[in-house]
Amino acid sequence: MTSLPESPSGAVPRAAIPSATAPLPPPKIRCQRLAKVFENIGRARNGFAALSDVNLEVREAEFLAVVGPSGCGKSTLLNIIGGHVRPTLGLVTVDGLPVTGPSKWVGMVFQNFGLFPWRTVAGNVEFGPQVAGLPAAECRDLARRYIRLVGLERFVNAYPKELSGGMKQRVALARALANDPGILLMDEPLGSLDAQTRETLQDEVARIWADTRKTIIFVTHNIDEAVILGDRVAVMTGPPGRVIELIEVDLPGSREPAARRYSPRLLEYKSHIWDLIRRAGATLPGAAYGEVVYR
Ligand SMILES: Nc1ncnc2c1ncn2[C@@H]1O[C@H](COP(=O)(O)OP(=O)(O)O)[C@@H](O)[C@H]1O
Ligand SMILES: [Mg+2]
Repeated sequence: MTSLPESPSGAVPRAAIPSATAPLPPPKIRCQRLAKVFENIGRARNGFAALSDVNLEVREAEFLAVVGPSGCGKSTLLNIIGGHVRPTLGLVTVDGLPVTGPSKWVGMVFQNFGLFPWRTVAGNVEFGPQVAGLPAAECRDLARRYIRLVGLERFVNAYPKELSGGMKQRVALARALANDPGILLMDEPLGSLDAQTRETLQDEVARIWADTRKTIIFVTHNIDEAVILGDRVAVMTGPPGRVIELIEVDLPGSREPAARRYSPRLLEYKSHIWDLIRRAGATLPGAAYGEVVYR
């Protein structure tokens, strides 16, 4: 705990005392009562409820991990926040403004990388700045900077097919960062990597977050990964998808994944999250096919 400066009399100066009534900064991202129903699909007469009443606030520069079983609506939630999918009900705001579509302030990174195979590493990373109309020299400089940040200097002229999965994911990360978004939305970005590469990339993502102070929402179905990376973990179940608990991760010592991985308390968080998901899975009405009854 930081100690407060003392005045000569030993009294604590008023200005140094954080006021209990001082307003907290507004959240960077706020989801209010989000619901999503996919219409016109065969499984359910009334549409398929992918999300139901999701409320979530994410602070500036926070790393929020979202964890939940496959099919519980994680990608749908992320796509709504990114402005790629419209919610059926509810509102998302970023910096207090409603999200109405994709924006350059919100970057996305996916599991399947989404690289352009016909562009080199540099070409892929330059893409965003080029589309934004920046001068060629500036695009090159930005690309070089972010390629260095992800440790791929030696591969600037390589094509995606010449890279391993871990390297492709680094390029995808550099490409998202080159647009300098305030927010990064990551949808199971490490899901297709082998265990060892995955750990290395977890370390990289944490380092890049610490260096750049982006607000990150990182979706994963891997409970370990969520606890190792997150400031907080939002636990989702579904369908219909909802956040059943928000957990502040408080592991003693370092914020580094390498330290968290071997913390005995990691197991406590894991078993708690497993319990939540198991219990919710057993009790959610309509969990098997997500039929909705919105009227
Ligand atoms: N475009 C769509 N049309 C119909 N159903 C969809 C669509 N996108 C997602 N779904 C359904 O919504 C549910 C949640 O999907 P998704 O958000 O991809 O889950 P997750 O990312 O957690 O695996 C799934 O049952 C999925 O089949
Ligand atoms: Mg998904």
